[in-house]
Amino acid sequence: MKERLNAGIVGTGRYVPEKILTNRDLEKMVDTTDEWITTRVGIKERRIAAPYETTSTMGAQAARDALADAKLAPEDVDLIITATITPDVPWPATASFIQRQLGATRAACFDIEAACTGFIYGLSVAQAYIASGMYRTVLVVAAETLSRITDWEDRNTAVLFGDAAGAAVLQPVSEPRGILSVYLGADGSKGDLLELPGGGSRKPATHETVDQRQHYIRMKGNEVFKFAGRAMAQANKRALEKAGMKIDQVDLLIPHQANMRIIQAAARLSSLSMDKVYLNIEKYGNTSAATTAVALAEARLEGRVGPGSVCLLVAFGGGFTWGACLLRL
Ligand code: UT7
Repeated sequence: MKERLNAGIVGTGRYVPEKILTNRDLEKMVDTTDEWITTRVGIKERRIAAPYETTSTMGAQAARDALADAKLAPEDVDLIITATITPDVPWPATASFIQRQLGATRAACFDIEAACTGFIYGLSVAQAYIASGMYRTVLVVAAETLSRITDWEDRNTAVLFGDAAGAAVLQPVSEPRGILSVYLGADGSKGDLLELPGGGSRKPATHETVDQRQHYIRMKGNEVFKFAGRAMAQANKRALEKAGMKIDQVDLLIPHQANMRIIQAAARLSSLSMDKVYLNIEKYGNTSAATTAVALAEARLEGRVGPGSVCLLVAFGGGFTWGACLLRL
């Protein structure tokens, strides 16, 4: 039987747009305050894509950064997976646009949609392809332009989201490096708690759907909140169990950055102190699939983790979906 290959991260990258939207700016747009946003959510500012930027242009920038980090050329890439809920267009896949911009002419391309858990779902797909021997170099790009689907008149959601892209290059690596375990969960019965109702086959775009603001994020924030901390803690536990490891062997928890209070709850339920938790929610807000990818890249850049470090990535999001990925860099 063919030997199962170990997949690991050999490069990471990220891109954030230049424009900063602060809580003070938002105070002028909706009925909110810096104090409410800071204490309830933990965000101070977020990035907003320029008019000429899209999910694929930001994703391609992050991908270039990750390929440079891995010392690889675009032609080395066998597969591009893009995790996004804000594709450039409904189809073709945003991964195809990224392929064109990179010149990664040998790569197969597709998108996956698992909302904020998208990067972790993407890593699991990359791992499976590499472990099977089907592909050697896989680029996972998590990119979002949430500012384009945010209802800037709805204070319940307008204060939460931002734009960003993160990327990781995966290849076969030698033990003990690599992805140690992945746990993925989903509950489709809760799909309507966090959704974008218009524009698909159920409600194709019409003047009516536009007038009813159905092309923006709709969220029952409280319901999502109640679920999120527990889901992330459960995912951490299952990923650790699968790898036969304990939480005190984790050097850094890299959680989805949706709400500081959710992150604190997840850490508490996982018996992990906050000094082992990576946070950048204050400066970027919730960038859906991109949060964990950007955070991993920044944690490496800042020297919070390095070769041999054990990282636990964890997220939850629309679908509902949730999951965790335990890896040694
Ligand atoms: O990536 C996954 C995506 N989503 C999430 O992770 C979101 C999860 N949920 C949350 O993070 C929180 O539920 C929110 C931050 C969205 C809301 O926080 P909350 O503590 O659950 O507040 P709430 O919805 O219970 O609202 C409390 C009050 C309400 O006023 P009343 O009814 O008590 O008078 C809201 O209208 O806060 C009000 N409120 C605001 N006030 C000022 C809601 N949004 C705002 C705002 N500024 N931006």
